Amino acid sequence: MDWDAKVAAAGDCVFFDWYLAYAHLAPHLTPVLAAYGSECEIFIPGCGISDVGFELYTNGYHNITNVDISAVAIGRMQQAQVARNAVDAMEFHCLDVLEVPNLVPPNLFDVVFDKGLMDALLCNLKTNVEDTFAYLAGMYQLLRRGGTFVLVTHSATRLCYLEHPTFAWKVIRQGVVDRNGRAYHLFFCVKS
Ligand SMILES: C[S@@+](CC[C@H](N)C(=O)[O-])C[C@H]1O[C@@H](n2cnc3c(N)ncnc32)[C@H](O)[C@@H]1O
Repeated sequence: MDWDAKVAAAGDCVFFDWYLAYAHLAPHLTPVLAAYGSECEIFIPGCGISDVGFELYTNGYHNITNVDISAVAIGRMQQAQVARNAVDAMEFHCLDVLEVPNLVPPNLFDVVFDKGLMDALLCNLKTNVEDTFAYLAGMYQLLRRGGTFVLVTHSATRLCYLEHPTFAWKVIRQGVVDRNGRAYHLFFCVKS
């Protein structure tokens, strides 16, 4: 998948959200984040040009690290941050998410928020299962004990990856949000 081209196809709009916007997610996310407090560390892998990180920032969560493999997406997000006079507020890095656990210490984040990234990995028919388990193992490593991996996906079948016995986390099916006749699934995985 050419993610740079996908981002470019969004045209001039500053933000574009796959699946759901912050407004749809807030009723589910707010209670989880509130339990960790505004100082919590949040990781957003595959941020794209989604508005969610900016909305979280506006709502008082300032320790947010964003990663995307698309240099175009990261460039646009950095520009959006400059436009808000908030240089260096959130971190943005152009990286393959599979590399991140090799670059930072474990147990770093309270919340990992994935909207569409695991789905993106699963699109690659040659590497999907291997990459997805490597990805989840990496996110598990990055989470603190008691931390939550949040998955927003278009497919309920992702549950079988989350429930793999390798991961000592409690998987909670948080709900289904309907948007324009399509169902999107929210899973919360709380690390033991
Ligand atoms: C379906 S889009 C979701 C974007 C954003 N999270 C949203 O909700 O609008 C998937 C995103 O994952 C990024 N991506 C795909 N593979 C990646 C990888 N291996 N490492 C980091 N980002 C990746 C793509 O560039 C794209 O921005």
